[in-house]
Amino acid sequence: MLEKRFHFQECTDVSTLKDGEAMSESLIEKKLRELDEKNEQALQGGGAARVEKQKQGGRLTARERLDVLLDPGSFVEIDKFVVHRCQKFGLNKQKFLGDGVVTGYGRINGKLVYVYSQDFTVFGGSMSRTQANKICKILDMAMKNGAPVIGINDSGGARIQEGVESLGGYADIFLRNTLASGVVPQISAIMGPCAGGAVYSPSLTDFIFMVKDTSYMFVTGPDVIRSVTHEEVTKEELGGALAHSQKSGVCHFATEDDKHCLLMIRELLNFLPSNNVDDPPLWPTTDSPDRKDPSLNTLIPENPKKPYDILDLITKVVDEGYFLEVHKEYAKNIVIGFARFNGRSVGVVANQPQVLAGCLNIEASIKAARFVRFCDAFNIPIVTFEDVPGFLPGTDQEWNGIITHGAKLLYAYAEATVPKVTVVTRKAYGGAYDVMSSKHLRGDVNLAYPTAQIAVMGAEGAVNILYRRQLKEAEDPEKLRAQLIKEYEDEFNNPYVAAGLGYIDEVIEPAMTRKRIIDSLEMLKNKKDTNPPKKHGNIPL
Ligand code: HXC
Repeated sequence: MLEKRFHFQECTDVSTLKDGEAMSESLIEKKLRELDEKNEQALQGGGAARVEKQKQGGRLTARERLDVLLDPGSFVEIDKFVVHRCQKFGLNKQKFLGDGVVTGYGRINGKLVYVYSQDFTVFGGSMSRTQANKICKILDMAMKNGAPVIGINDSGGARIQEGVESLGGYADIFLRNTLASGVVPQISAIMGPCAGGAVYSPSLTDFIFMVKDTSYMFVTGPDVIRSVTHEEVTKEELGGALAHSQKSGVCHFATEDDKHCLLMIRELLNFLPSNNVDDPPLWPTTDSPDRKDPSLNTLIPENPKKPYDILDLITKVVDEGYFLEVHKEYAKNIVIGFARFNGRSVGVVANQPQVLAGCLNIEASIKAARFVRFCDAFNIPIVTFEDVPGFLPGTDQEWNGIITHGAKLLYAYAEATVPKVTVVTRKAYGGAYDVMSSKHLRGDVNLAYPTAQIAVMGAEGAVNILYRRQLKEAEDPEKLRAQLIKEYEDEFNNPYVAAGLGYIDEVIEPAMTRKRIIDSLEMLKNKKDTNPPKKHGNIPL
């Protein structure tokens, strides 16, 4: 860049200047050289040795990450020359242009996004007052201009030398994350350390990506844990990508390396609108909206106790079979993710009969509720596939608050005003029938397969309760039980009672699932629904 510009200048100057003047530097040349030098200096981060250390650890630099994340040549940097203002601990003699975070805007498949990428090579990417100011500026611009924000976190936390100024900076970011929630999509990538209170900015955002083996998140690290609880745990075990994607649910996407992580973020962005008054993008598809899939007619096993993989159903009906699963490793008894129907983004929520028979438990309720609320906030229709035998019984569930947590999902579906299409494939029992986007919670189109069973509970459980005395007194209780179960099944193990009441709009041939969902979404394209005016509701947190 430096060489190129001066080569050009030289060519022009030499042709116009008189003898003896060709070598002197004009004022503008001097200024441009100075600018180039500063730009060059900013690109060095914390210097070659630290950059080398970063790379040896298998991590890309802050700028390389933005190169992978954004469309080529689209990045425009802001605040490149910002430096910290700390005078203590000798920091006045150590200044790095940009102060440990690269901020700006760019494009992902042409869509404007705001970005910040912490530079671990500068004071370990630690949060200074000025670094916080840079990130706040990006968040403010994203809000004003209605575009998503992607934050790449790689930091040793609060800049220790700055004390409370750094803590104040974090809180300024938390405030903006909170105000931006539901206004613009916010995505966090954890690509190195993220510890202490620093974890709370990512956790206020909509999706957290982590990189296996090189990233970790925790409020208190292994050393503190050892001294307080005497537990021995490594950083990876405690707060690595697998811990947070499988155990805590903090991480939505556990990725293989830096590049995979950044490409996955691009993938996710393709499903999202830029802000809460924008529509999700339309994606060209060659998959016919009328495509029937006869194999769906035999997907649901005849034996209602036999599991099947709901992912088979999802991938058979969505455009090109492409489903971006979110929270894949967590609460596997419910599946959530993004897909498209006839080019339109939808959020899919589906019970997974393969895990815990698809029961709703605490984790599944929280996982799905948060997703439903995200979709609703960003105008993404919700398609629900229901096969749920009820809430998971047990003291563990009750004592840990399934009442409160299960209500989260109920609340999320009830308040959602985006188009809601539900397909009952098999069981829709008890409270779980109500919860899973039922007609009563403003489900717009509620479909059922002929194999659907919509009842208060399964036949065996119902008979045991209803006929306890008769069964006790019967000469042949097993014969009577079988007969009563059959009677109950004939009465309730079908979709027709619900369809007769208008709780199910249509009983469909499974082969027609894709077409009917697309018909429904097209019909609901201009849906308008509102909630009563209020400051905000009080979701059972
Ligand atoms: C200032 C820091 C720093 C910090 C790292 N550095 N963390 N500088 N403030 N918080 C500097 C180091 O001095 C070093 O500078 C460079 O970054 C790289 O650090 P290393 O320790 O050499 O790297 P590594 O071995 O990879 O270890 C990374 C680390 C470790 C595990 C993150 O640096 C560490 O434990 N840092 C402190 C973490 C911490 O306790 N932070 C405060 C948490 S409390 P040189 O010049 O040698 O390159 C918090 C509160 C937030 O964050 C509250 C918000 C509400």
